[in-house]
Amino acid sequence: MANNTLQKAKAAKQDEFYTQLVDIQNEMNAYLDYNPDVFRGKTILLPCDDPEWSNFTLFFAQNFERFGLKKLISTSYAIESKYNLYGSQLSLFETDFEKTSKQYDAKKSQSRGKIFVLDKDCNADGCINYHDLKWEYLKGDGDFRSDEVKALRDEADIIITNPPFSLFREFMAWLLIAKKQFVIIGSMMSISYKEVFPHIKNNKIWLGRSTGGKEYKKPDGSFQKMGNTCWFTNIDHGRRHQPLTLMSTADVFKYSKHKDIREMNHFYHYENYDAIDIPRVDAIPCDYNGVMGVPTSFLYQYCPDQFEIIGIAEGDSGKELGLQPYDRNLKKLNKSLRDGQLFYLLENGIPKKPFARILIRKK
Ligand SMILES: C[S@@+](CC[C@H](N)C(=O)[O-])C[C@H]1O[C@@H](n2cnc3c(N)ncnc32)[C@H](O)[C@@H]1O
Repeated sequence: MANNTLQKAKAAKQDEFYTQLVDIQNEMNAYLDYNPDVFRGKTILLPCDDPEWSNFTLFFAQNFERFGLKKLISTSYAIESKYNLYGSQLSLFETDFEKTSKQYDAKKSQSRGKIFVLDKDCNADGCINYHDLKWEYLKGDGDFRSDEVKALRDEADIIITNPPFSLFREFMAWLLIAKKQFVIIGSMMSISYKEVFPHIKNNKIWLGRSTGGKEYKKPDGSFQKMGNTCWFTNIDHGRRHQPLTLMSTADVFKYSKHKDIREMNHFYHYENYDAIDIPRVDAIPCDYNGVMGVPTSFLYQYCPDQFEIIGIAEGDSGKELGLQPYDRNLKKLNKSLRDGQLFYLLENGIPKKPFARILIRKK
């Protein structure tokens, strides 16, 4: 296989992992707690899905009536597009459910995506649930960028999924252009993307209530650990409106539960930006009015009424902050120094570069 085909196969394979029901449940409950009617009368689209493997379709189909949904649409990506690069794999769903269906077509089953729709009680058992899902082949392979899936996006009120991470930037741009409500899973690393961070800064996108799942199911039934996933959304939830309870600087150094913080007597000031470094979110002091660099996990606690986000000193977005270039002589003392990243000097004159920091200021 040519090198770039191999790379594509690798990326495609890495995209094949499925969200667990409990993680979907926990996150959706946060929106429902804040607004019990959040899904009422809405058309929900679940793109990049696959009802055999995915719990998103199961979750919304089983709660169709309870949530008062108008319509549920989910689309799946063609087997051929998914697996062709590294060996085809016919799923149980294909062999059992699909093959026994009247519209089964061996060729289409490989090359076409599918659309699943739920909007009424088709089997006349008195309730609307998973068993009333109707499916058919799409014209194309179900790529979210295709015109037919774009038309479904435009029909929907809310878009919810765990999209392919290898196409995350494109997926986010595809979502934002449509100006819809959404809840999607991504890697925490993507917060610094230029397609994402400006919207976080402007409070147009925020993190969901929970972290993403810790483990995702793979098609072979095994689980893949992923410690750094989160939900991105523009639907409101309660935690965004709960300000952090903070201590004064003096009390932080005296009472912090962390030994490393209790051993400090001041916060370091960055050498290349006018801000102080706060190494832990629970050490943010209530009495500092300037700019503070805090760990990116702050976004889980971010209440826009309490803090303003100034920027992120990482990735695409770090460059826009205007950090001063570091003195080249310092490189001898710390090889990891980079222009566009924050650093401060320890008492012994050694430069220290903290992990990714979000720059915030008290409102
Ligand atoms: C991370 S998995 C998540 C699946 C499902 N949403 C879930 O969480 O259980 C991403 C899915 O997107 C599919 N996919 C990859 N590229 C795609 C594309 N261009 N358009 C639509 N789906 C795609 C993959 O086949 C994979 O099933």
